[in-house]
Amino acid sequence: MAPEVERVREKIENMIFPSDPKKRIRQGGETGLLIEAFEMFTKASSSLETAYSQLQAKAQELTEELEAKNLELEKSLREKEEAQNFLHNILERLPCGVLVLDDRGDLTLCNPMAAEVLTKSGKHRRPYLNSGVRSYLASSVARSGSKREVEIPLKRGKKQKILATSGAPLTDAGGDQVGTLHIIRDITEMKALQEQNKRVERLSAMGEMAVELAHEIRNPLGSVELFASLLEKEVSGDLKRWAENIRIGSRSLNNIVSNMLHFANPLSPAFAEVDIHRIIQDVLAFTHPIMNQRKVRILKQLKADQPVLCADSELIKQMMLNLIMNAMNAMPSEGSLLVQTKNIKQEHDSGRGLEVKIQDSGIGIPPENLNRIFDPFFTTNKKGTGLGLSVVHRIVEQHSGTIRVSSEINHGTTFIISFGTRPSEPEKSRSTKESMHG
Ligand SMILES: Nc1ncnc2c1ncn2[C@@H]1O[C@H](COP(=O)(O)OP(=O)(O)OP(=O)(O)O)[C@@H](O)[C@H]1O
Ligand SMILES: [Mg+2]
Repeated sequence: MAPEVERVREKIENMIFPSDPKKRIRQGGETGLLIEAFEMFTKASSSLETAYSQLQAKAQELTEELEAKNLELEKSLREKEEAQNFLHNILERLPCGVLVLDDRGDLTLCNPMAAEVLTKSGKHRRPYLNSGVRSYLASSVARSGSKREVEIPLKRGKKQKILATSGAPLTDAGGDQVGTLHIIRDITEMKALQEQNKRVERLSAMGEMAVELAHEIRNPLGSVELFASLLEKEVSGDLKRWAENIRIGSRSLNNIVSNMLHFANPLSPAFAEVDIHRIIQDVLAFTHPIMNQRKVRILKQLKADQPVLCADSELIKQMMLNLIMNAMNAMPSEGSLLVQTKNIKQEHDSGRGLEVKIQDSGIGIPPENLNRIFDPFFTTNKKGTGLGLSVVHRIVEQHSGTIRVSSEINHGTTFIISFGTRPSEPEKSRSTKESMHG
């Protein structure tokens, strides 16, 4: 029994059974009633006590249950946080852009990749969706499960970007649409590669056609040149000049066609004894009128006493023509052209070699272009094909020769080609490039 209850009981007993006998007599008849009341009170208090201890047990049980629930809640919160981090990491590192728009079309989520492609450089460095982009995004949302990719052209400063996007509607638990999800990829480079591929395909088809066409053109061109030169001898005055122009025009056309043919379909050289001095004279005679027009002084130093090569005369002529035409193009008004030959002692050969130098006083080649001039299609001339030097390189290679170039801006360019006078089997050419001040 609880001590408070015990104390109350003792007090009541003292009242009912006082130690003083006079009091006991006075109270007499009420005693029974009081005992009864006391018993009822005792019963009530003991049932109260039981209820109290039951209540305490229940409270203990509930506290334990609450603690367990708290632990569970903490665990699920931790798990939720981990899942959120995991998703966040995926979104951060995804190699494509992810966007979420709410039902009004406003941006609610944008991962870094999407931010990068949608952020304008400049002051306001925030992902920005203009009305055009919004309508592209809206049209990319596939409603009936069919996948749809829409291309978005984007202007970023001077650059043009192309994005590809596909989207899907986002719904809430009740199935109502609450926004849209979009995946964005930057396909600018892929598009450029596709375009390049198409271009290469078109070019190669055109190349095949060009080779056929070149064969067809060469013969009539040769006749035009021949008849023009015959006419030139027969007439005088203006007529002679016109015939000369026709001859020069058809010859340079022929040269372009030959370069193209040689580049597209190089034939193996037909070796025979070739006098390089005769070839140089021929080429200079052909270019003479143009040199005259441009006031270019020609200096011929044909010093080789053994000018005969074992070579393909057509190819060597083509080589000289390409080099001299380049020199001429580098001197639009005034200048001087040196063409020099000399025999040289060759280290790897018991015989003597031949060196041809073509030096102009023209515009020169910038150092950053020196490594590219032999590449096919590299040209700085509006009317050039960029095939001239690549064909020269190939011809030198076919004759086991070497070619060197040195150049200085606004001072001129020098090409030096060396051949063995009796070339053996063609071997790989050794071409070196050096600068006059290098
Ligand atoms: N003597 C030179 N002086 C200055 N630049 C030169 C000279 N020779 C070649 N180059 C540079 O090298 C480039 C490539 O020459 P290449 O002969 O291959 O083509 P091209 O002359 O431009 O065209 P094409 O020969 O078809 O008329 C030229 O466009 C020019 O920039
Ligand atoms: Mg050229």
